[in-house]
Amino acid sequence: MCGIVGYIGSKEATPILVEGLKRLEYRGYDSAGVAVLTNGKITIEKQAGKIGGLEKHIVNRDLSGKSGIAHTRWATHGHPTQTNAHPHADCTGTLALIHNGIIENFGAIKTELIANGHNFITDTDTEALVHLIEEYYNNGHDLEAAVRAALSQVEGTYGIAVISSTEPDTLIAARRGSPLVVGVGENEFVVASDVSAIISHTKDVTYLEDNEVAIIKRNKLTIKTIDNLEVDKKVEKIAFDLEKIEKGGYDHFMLKEIMEQPQTIRDAMRGRLLEDEGTARLGGIQHEIDSLIYAPQMLFSACGTSWHAALIGEYMIEEFVRTPVEVEYASEFRYRDPVIERGSVMFVISQSGETADTLAALREGRRKGAKVLGICNVVGSTIARESDAGVYLHAGPEIGVASTKAFTSQVTVLSLLTLLLGRMRNMGASKGVRIVKEMEALPEKVSSILENQGTIKAIAREYHQSQNFLYLGRGYNFPVALEGALKLKEISYIHAEGYPAAEMKHGPIALIDENMPVVFIATKDSTYEKIISNIEEVKARSGRIIAIATEGDTEIKKLADHVIYVPQTLEFLTPILTIIPLQLLAYYIAILRGCDVDQPRNLAKSVTVE
Ligand code: F6R
Repeated sequence: MCGIVGYIGSKEATPILVEGLKRLEYRGYDSAGVAVLTNGKITIEKQAGKIGGLEKHIVNRDLSGKSGIAHTRWATHGHPTQTNAHPHADCTGTLALIHNGIIENFGAIKTELIANGHNFITDTDTEALVHLIEEYYNNGHDLEAAVRAALSQVEGTYGIAVISSTEPDTLIAARRGSPLVVGVGENEFVVASDVSAIISHTKDVTYLEDNEVAIIKRNKLTIKTIDNLEVDKKVEKIAFDLEKIEKGGYDHFMLKEIMEQPQTIRDAMRGRLLEDEGTARLGGIQHEIDSLIYAPQMLFSACGTSWHAALIGEYMIEEFVRTPVEVEYASEFRYRDPVIERGSVMFVISQSGETADTLAALREGRRKGAKVLGICNVVGSTIARESDAGVYLHAGPEIGVASTKAFTSQVTVLSLLTLLLGRMRNMGASKGVRIVKEMEALPEKVSSILENQGTIKAIAREYHQSQNFLYLGRGYNFPVALEGALKLKEISYIHAEGYPAAEMKHGPIALIDENMPVVFIATKDSTYEKIISNIEEVKARSGRIIAIATEGDTEIKKLADHVIYVPQTLEFLTPILTIIPLQLLAYYIAILRGCDVDQPRNLAKSVTVE
């Protein structure tokens, strides 16, 4: 979603701002712009489309200056045009503002400001904010006070950065509901919506909390609340290197991240498996273990791919821990007034830790008395900070918009949680030891699937022009069917649906004919015989069958048009293996269709608006 970069220091700002925007490209955007303070005057340049277009546009313009702000916009209010792109200016061009989030009461503010003589030129909600700041600025407030006064009138969410030509040594940034980090370098500061835009300059950062304002001078950072109380903030170290956010020889981040999975799964388990005791240790939630073990109910809330991981978690916990689990889309949970029993524990699952709906679900869960635990990837993210306790995935930055390695890490962490709680309830030591051994073997098994991509590429070639796909699975592999379909549709724009295989005959079977590829996840597990019957049903209607099957299952070849084999593992761990070929299938189909897999249309990596 929208990206923010701001710079103030002793270096030329424009190259730093443009590089920062490129680092944020993965978040998804449709236009980009930059504002630099040049000789006491603000120059704004912006373009619809890609950052490359903006770069060409500014090549012969004077954008020299030692402070500035830049933005990638993901349209919410108004089309993705040059005019609507950020930065936005006030009436006189004294102020420039960039904004992530939504100003919900912009209509009322705009009407009042127009009545006061302000001139609006865009369709955006953001423009109302810059004119509101102008209103206070013209009434004698300095930039900091004008921003604070304006923000106290705003309803909605924001991450903002503002500069003024009359205060050239100040950059103001503020947040409510939209992430913002200040990088603290030597005599320079870089503010951004995401540490990726900061890491090449400094690893020292301060995360802003909601309702905080950063007053950044060339050599001094002060953080206050909107109500003007100074806040003492920690400077923290970013824990990864630049190379982690680069492609490392792969054509796309998505492929790099798919290929990283043996390592990321290993990293999710590192130091957490206790082979002798046949259990797991999750340091981050160890002190909450009593609440977990005696919880009458668990709730998992998440969005998208993380929601699919949560569904697998539900199956695992109910099978091995016997605690009832509810899985809720965060966007529904936050508005639905759900019943939360006393003592309930809620897990919010989020790769980015910034998803607006998931964050709101966390807050709603807490309001209703649940203990709230987070499963996040991004260290220091808002959800990680607001949870009572939590577990990190340690998957490293996920840049590809389609989530891949985060999913397998989430399922791995949920397996660890299941093992830990299961062993405390009614699982014996020998079963625990067997699970530990099987989990330790997973990275190698994932590697073997990744090494064997020939069949997947051939299937991609045969079906990349299909208009529709169906994905079917049962039990633990039903959520994998949902996830496989999501991967395909989001990066290749092919219509794909995931279903529990048995549900097919209650409607979707009507879609099946010789043009419909149907992907069955049909590993040798407790529902194998049943899924074979479902395959027969599709075959009887001439559907084309692509089966994900267990190595050694030769029988399935007689039924399926194509078989992709995965190694045997315990049933509850199969999703960690079966999703791998589906990620690759989606990737290769999208490539053959000429799609930009790292920046699929309309999508954002981190969905920070509701
Ligand atoms: C799909 C995808 C999205 C995210 C969803 C939640 O590939 O990436 O569906 O899973 O937006 O994001 P997080 O996990 O960051 O809360």
